[in-house]
Formats: sequence, C-alpha cells, structure tokens
Amino acid sequence: MIKSPRGTRDLLPPDTALWNFVEAAVRDVFRAYNFHEIRTPIFESTELFARGVGEETDIVSKEMFTWEDGERFDRPALVDAWRRAHTGESFEEVGSYFPGEGITELACFYDETHVAEIVMFSTRADEVVMKALAEAVSKFDGPPSHLNHFSETVRGRLVIPSPVPANSESMTEDGIVIEKLHGAFHKSSQSLTLRPENTAGVVRAYIEHKLWERGLNKLFYIGPQFRRERPQKGRYRQFYQIGAEIIGPAASGSQSPARDAELLELLATLLERVGIKDWTLELNSVGCPADRVTFNEALRQALAPAVEKMCGDCQRRAVTNPLRIFDCKVPEDQPIIATLPTIGQFLDEDCRAHYAEVKNILQAVGVPYVENPRLVRGLDYYTRTAFEFTHGALGAQNAILGGGRYDGLAESLGSPQPAPGIGFAIGEDRLVLSLAATADSVARKPDVYVAPLGAGMNREAARVARELRRHYPAADLVVELGDETFRLKKSFEAADKMGARYILIVGENEVKADAFALKHLASGEQVTVPRGELARRILGK
Ligand code: HAM
Repeated sequence: MIKSPRGTRDLLPPDTALWNFVEAAVRDVFRAYNFHEIRTPIFESTELFARGVGEETDIVSKEMFTWEDGERFDRPALVDAWRRAHTGESFEEVGSYFPGEGITELACFYDETHVAEIVMFSTRADEVVMKALAEAVSKFDGPPSHLNHFSETVRGRLVIPSPVPANSESMTEDGIVIEKLHGAFHKSSQSLTLRPENTAGVVRAYIEHKLWERGLNKLFYIGPQFRRERPQKGRYRQFYQIGAEIIGPAASGSQSPARDAELLELLATLLERVGIKDWTLELNSVGCPADRVTFNEALRQALAPAVEKMCGDCQRRAVTNPLRIFDCKVPEDQPIIATLPTIGQFLDEDCRAHYAEVKNILQAVGVPYVENPRLVRGLDYYTRTAFEFTHGALGAQNAILGGGRYDGLAESLGSPQPAPGIGFAIGEDRLVLSLAATADSVARKPDVYVAPLGAGMNREAARVARELRRHYPAADLVVELGDETFRLKKSFEAADKMGARYILIVGENEVKADAFALKHLASGEQVTVPRGELARRILGK
C-alpha cells in the first residue's frame, strides 16, 4: 500500500471545515487591517533562503528540500570557477566524462606534488556520488604520456557548489576531500528548494515587482511550507502558515514601532476571532546589526572556557554565528547557555527607544506580553522586535506563531533601497490543534435531503434539487440528492447519517400535486409544502 510520505498528512472532512473556518476568519481580520493577499511560488531558488534565512540556521543547513535542476547543470562554469579558486595550484586537465546526471568528472594531476587527483564536480553529495568517485580513484591509471610524472598516489576530491545539500560534511570519507565552491557556480545553476517559509519569497517579489512604487505594502499569505524536521505532534514536513508582512520604503513609515505594535494587536484580535484563548506573547528586541557584532563578540568571549564541552553544532556556531547557539536543544548544553549574556544589554540608543515605544503602544491598546530576553528566533534576518505567541495546550511544539522585524533583509536580497519590514507567520496546523471548537460545530450539514421515491423519480428530484440550489444568493441552501433505488427507510438512514435537517420526499403523488412532503428530522414533524414555498420553509422563514 502506498502511504502519504513521512511528515505529511491528508486533511480530511470534517476537519477541513475547521481549516476553512480559520482561513475565512483570518481573511476577515486581514481585510479590516487593510492587508492584501500575495501568492508566491512554492519553490524558489535555493540561494534566496541561503541568503535570506541564513546558512547557519537549522532551516537552511538541515531542513530544506533541495534539488538540482539537472537541465541547467553548467559544467564549464563550475570548472572555470574551480580553476579560479585554485589559481595557486597548477593542474592540467587530462580527460573528462559525464558518468551520470548531475555529475561530471575531471581528471587532473599536480606537477609539484606528483599526486594525481581525480576531481569530480557534482551538484550532489550522496552515497552514489561518493561511490562513483571512490571507484574512479581506484581505477585511475592516467594517460601513458603522464604516468612517469607522478607516483601511484591518487586522491579524490568532490567539488559541490554552495549552498550544498544537507549533511554533505558527514559524508567525507578516507581519501576523499569534499570541497564547497562558494559563489560562481550557483549563478549558472538551478538549485531549487521547496519554500521552508514565505518571508524571503515575499521580499523577493517586493523587489522583483518594485512594490515600493506603491509605498507601504501590507501583504498576507496562506499556504504550505516544507521543512525536513523530525515529525511529531504539531510538527510536520509539509505544514501550513498564515502570515503577513508590512514592508515599504523608510519614508512610508514601515520602520515605525507603530507598525510592530499594530501587527501584534492584529494578532491578538485574530486569535480572539478564531476562538483561541490562553496565549502568551513573548517579546524581545534583537537589536540592529551593529549591536549584533558586539553581542556576538561578547558571546564568543563568554563561550571560550566552555565551548569545548558543547555539542558539535554549537562549537561550529561559536565560530560562525554565536547567536545561533540559543537555538540549541541539546539538554547538556542548556546550563552553559543559561549563563550567556543576553542581547538586551547590547542595544544601542535607537533600538532601545524603538523597543520601549512598541511596549508603550501595546500597553495603551491592552495587549498583554511577557519579555523573554533569550528569544532570538531561528532565522537570521531579524532585527529589533522579535516575538512568539505560545499556547499551553500544544505540548513541546508550543509556538503557535512567530515573527519579527527584518530591516536589512530587502537590501541583502538586492533591493536598490532600504525597505524595513516586519511580519509574522502562524503555524496553521498548530492553530487548528489548539482550537477549542470541534470540526463538527463548524462543518456545514445539509439543510435538506431530497429523496426520490420510486422509479422515474430521479428526474423529478433533480429538478427540485436544482431549484433549491439555485435559490442562491437569496438563500444559501445545502442540498443533498438521493437516489430512486433507495427505499424510504434507506433514504431516512442516509439523511440521518449526514446530519440533514429535513428530508423532502419526491414521489409520484407529490409530483402530481406539485407539493412535497417535508419532514423535520429532529422533531419528526411533517408538512406538505407547495413547490414554490419549499426554500422559504426549509430556511424556517
Ligand atoms: P518560524 O518561527 O520559523 O517563522 O515559523 C512560524 C510558525 O510556523 C511557528 O511558530 C510554527 O507555529 C509554525 N511551524 C514552523 N515549523 C513547523 C513545522 N515543521 N510543523 C508545523 N508548524 C511549523 C517563520 O517562518 C517566519 N517566516 C515568520 C516571519 C514572517 N517573520 C517575519 N515575517
């Protein structure tokens, strides 16, 4: 039996009614705050997330669904880039061939060292490629004219473009060096990724379509996102986000603390509208890039005596991006992390004032919050305000939504001018999980079950059902149509099972009289109603 892939789910009725209820309610809220919908592609160029979300984040380094668009694999560009990167070494190409899709191989030798080296360029770093390279190394005998130049030592080197597929590091094996080539290659390659989040895509669209020409943009989206995480309750590999972004030129006021507070107040309204109580808004300011530099330096110093005892990820982060140490989930590391300084101590004057004003407005409009000085969020683009809403009923995955300000993101993605922004994304799966409402209470049941009774009655019943359904928009009736092969008892059972309010009998006598037996299923009350009055009667008017 073929099942849905790990970490994905089918959303089935009646639960889908709950999803639709949530989406309709949030659309209403977005309308009231003058947000407009944007729909961006489900996959984007990998580089967008590497640059936008950050290479050191868990999302980019471990969780993305990335693949290479083989058709645009550009071997000459990669070889050229590699040659440029190794200008100090002299090598000569002695042959090449293409053993498979996404792989190209180049044999070369080094004059100085007399070591032959097989260099394989690949867009992948998986077992298949490693095996192919190992085999090539073991079989390599070099062209006869060069054999006397080097010893029998043959090494393998795998060159893969950056950003790289997940886990490539861990595949390094004896005698094979894995090398990442930053820059040049991916300009001509087509590395694509299923979007793990939507902010980078929205900002990309903002730049691509010059949305700044409209001033302040208030955009929202609803759609699936993809992360290769370990599935558990509330955590899926395909999950849904409801998100919003406010972005625009500085002159449009997009950097104002008023926008931060407005967005948080919108969230409080939105959660109330869908029926979620007992949420906690956790708030922090992560400062601006200059604050981050001093903070990272302070972290490095504080970590120096302890970092060796920490997990491998943290040891790497301590060098590349110490802030990301706060994302660590390893229990043994937590006591060390608890002693680290927090960003609040490093905020400059402007960031402090901005944060204070966000809090002032929240107090003025009556949105409660708690400050969490260790909240840094798992994405690199945040500046200043960062927040999460948590909900107790969710268990381990208790963040129902997260967001924050990202004042430098647009520039880092190539915007010709600054475009400060702020946004959030709600985990829709988690929102639905924490809803007190049951799917049954929002699922729409049929108003009437039209039951043809006897041979030839399907036609008459179809006419009656059509009249009732076309009554829209005067009355929005949900009509279920039965079948003439059903006996009366079976029609009643079917109507009951689907929770219809009325059953309407279409038999020969009814058709002749042009009036139909209409029975209210809960009370058992039955009346005969002329055709023209059916809809009104079913609606109870
Ligand atoms: P995020 O915190 O990575 O932020 O995700 C936002 C929310 O998506 C989380 O709080 C959680 O509810 C939900 N979520 C994340 N991963 C999963 C998963 N594997 N399964 C189920 N739900 C999940 C962002 O994505 C940012 N783009 C938010 C943002 C918008 N910041 C500024 N603008």
